[in-house]
Amino acid sequence: MTVHFIGAGPGAADLITVRGLELIRRCPVCLYAGSLVPRAIVEAAPADAEVVDTAPLHLDQIMALIERAHGRGQDVARVHSGDPSIYGATAEQIRRLAALGIPYTITPGVPAFAAAAAELGTELTLPDVAQSIVLTRTTVRASAMPAGEDLASFARTGATLAIHLSINNLARVVRDLVPVLGEDMPVAVVYRATWPDQQIVQGTLGDIRAKVKGLGLTRTALIMVGRVLDPGHFSDSRLYAADHTHVLRPEPAGSG
Ligand SMILES: C[S@@+](CC[C@H](N)C(=O)[O-])C[C@H]1O[C@@H](n2cnc3c(N)ncnc32)[C@H](O)[C@@H]1O
Repeated sequence: MTVHFIGAGPGAADLITVRGLELIRRCPVCLYAGSLVPRAIVEAAPADAEVVDTAPLHLDQIMALIERAHGRGQDVARVHSGDPSIYGATAEQIRRLAALGIPYTITPGVPAFAAAAAELGTELTLPDVAQSIVLTRTTVRASAMPAGEDLASFARTGATLAIHLSINNLARVVRDLVPVLGEDMPVAVVYRATWPDQQIVQGTLGDIRAKVKGLGLTRTALIMVGRVLDPGHFSDSRLYAADHTHVLRPEPAGSG
């Protein structure tokens, strides 16, 4: 018996991996994380599978379901939104599985920040502009941020910021970032990327609050911040430069 952690992707049912979907199709137990996992993905479970939404459960109750499946020798598809490696609360489950001697696998998924970039039609790393992305969040009631991981410090690096779990903290995000990045820094709020009710609001640190006001975007949104969102001029990458040689293109273009 094995517990398979599976990233369901950001929302659109066809953005799960082939491997993840195959696992769901063959596991007799499917535990999925509530509203962020699309119904169509969960419906791929066998008709007689035990399918449970774990959103209202606490960790002990989830582990009880897993232990019961373990007792019956039934594999479990443990389906999380996006990719399980980011804000997935998977580590605490893995720790319990290890203590119980229950094997597990992890199948990655498309994370929300990548889906947001796709829906924005953009690349988050650009030559001369930003070559790093910070996946972060802000303090909310459930979880404080560790010391040193504050938005202003990340902003000072010049990296593109993908701020999770923080749409209700937008005022605070703006207040922390404006002194470092300025009011004209581009921002995109991407709400429920790839779901049918997706909304995208683009602006700057100076006007984004006014633009999202009244739209009711209270959950499941990413706040993307960085010059890459409206870069003006940027250089071509060296990778495809005609005068750049590398192992797969040892001769400069046109020299043969
Ligand atoms: C519990 S975290 C899960 C993150 C997920 N594991 C991932 O790989 O993206 C939930 C947060 O991720 C972001 N998120 C998840 N799905 C999203 C989507 N489809 N569109 C925009 N943001 C999303 C939001 O910031 C949301 O508050």
